[in-house]
Amino acid sequence: MKLGPKLALKPALNPMTLDPTKPPPDPLAAATHPDPYPYYRELARVQPFHRDAMLMLWVAAGPAEVAAVLSHPACRVRPPGQPVPPPLAQSPAGTLFARLIRMNDGQDQALLKAVLQRKLATLDLNDVRAAASAWARLLPVARDPAATANRWSSALPVIALAGLLGYTAGDDETTAGRIATQIASFAAAMSQLAGSAEIAAGIEAAASLQMLPCADTPWTRALREHARAAGVDDDAIGANQLGLMVQSCEATAGLIGNTLLWLARDAAAADDLRATVARVLRADPPIHNTRRFLAEDARVCGVPLRRGDGILVLLAAAAASQAEGAGAAATASASAPAHPGERSWTFGHGAHRCPGDALAATLAEATVAALLARGIEPAALAQAYRYRPSLNARIPHFL
Ligand code: HEM
Repeated sequence: MKLGPKLALKPALNPMTLDPTKPPPDPLAAATHPDPYPYYRELARVQPFHRDAMLMLWVAAGPAEVAAVLSHPACRVRPPGQPVPPPLAQSPAGTLFARLIRMNDGQDQALLKAVLQRKLATLDLNDVRAAASAWARLLPVARDPAATANRWSSALPVIALAGLLGYTAGDDETTAGRIATQIASFAAAMSQLAGSAEIAAGIEAAASLQMLPCADTPWTRALREHARAAGVDDDAIGANQLGLMVQSCEATAGLIGNTLLWLARDAAAADDLRATVARVLRADPPIHNTRRFLAEDARVCGVPLRRGDGILVLLAAAAASQAEGAGAAATASASAPAHPGERSWTFGHGAHRCPGDALAATLAEATVAALLARGIEPAALAQAYRYRPSLNARIPHFL
């Protein structure tokens, strides 16, 4: 009997049990492995496009193969006939999920994506940095540095965005904190690893988020006008405004945590945080993979695939294979220029490529700067951490 994609994607091991001296047992476990990059490089070199019989997934690992899958017209973001994951179907979380451009293909996605991309490009990154720094001054510091780093990594980027998007006024930190918690709950409920309590919390959070009043700022007004002119309906615009915070939440938290770990190894890298964040995006990225599903029978990377087949797209393997030699993540200095051909694959490629890359780097830089300014010591944090359980994201959780 062939297992459906949902069953096929169960992790082989609890990430907590992974042995750092052994390569990851499979590409899904790699995202939270202590050092998956030699494994990724080998996979990209030896098996750039292959079938993983245990996972029942095709796996794209080489840069050319990753790019080919992400630009193939038959490769879609959702399995055919399943626009929403079954645990979220018929719920407020399902309604929100189904409207996100990240979860849709076709003309509606392309139209709203183009508008969002144009509007995000008009945000002044200095304003974004200033907003994050201003919120940082208001946020309480827990006595426990690990708890402070964990909370700020998740919350500060979302809170800064919530202000820019008109969801919070001035310095209302209570509302801001609540929105950050609800966004994190909804994001967690979308994970394949979510249990019933997380799904219930995500559904409740999605219901509240969709009722959230949004002030009319010049930016949101222009976004709405341009989107309406492109024929996008108001429900989709509202959902995707929330979607910007959802998309920023976990990935930016990962970027912040991985930057803190980098600083623990190379304290001098704090002198140029912008360069360090750019380096971490390439060498120890927060998002390691994404998925695509065949909408119809088609030839992908020269192999005939069937409608419904799932492909695990290893962004981090493509990146690792283009990075400088083995051990790059551990040894390269932050200020070293990118290797020719090296790019941050962590933001994806093709029609769904992340429109928030510059914003994410700026939010991460501002958050790390704020944590350092509050006396957080990366070397002390790095003494005890694990990665949050995840099949695609590398997000440190400090203990
Ligand atoms: C380091 C932080 C981030 C990383 C690594 C990241 C990565 C990604 C990736 C890999 C995708 C494409 C997924 C796929 O093709 O399957 C994506 C999509 C997206 N990201 Fe980001 N992202 C980050 C931060 C942000 C931020 C701050 C925003 C807010 C503006 C954002 C907004 C989006 C949106 C709206 C999409 C959907 C685009 C579409 O489907 O066309 N991301 N992101």
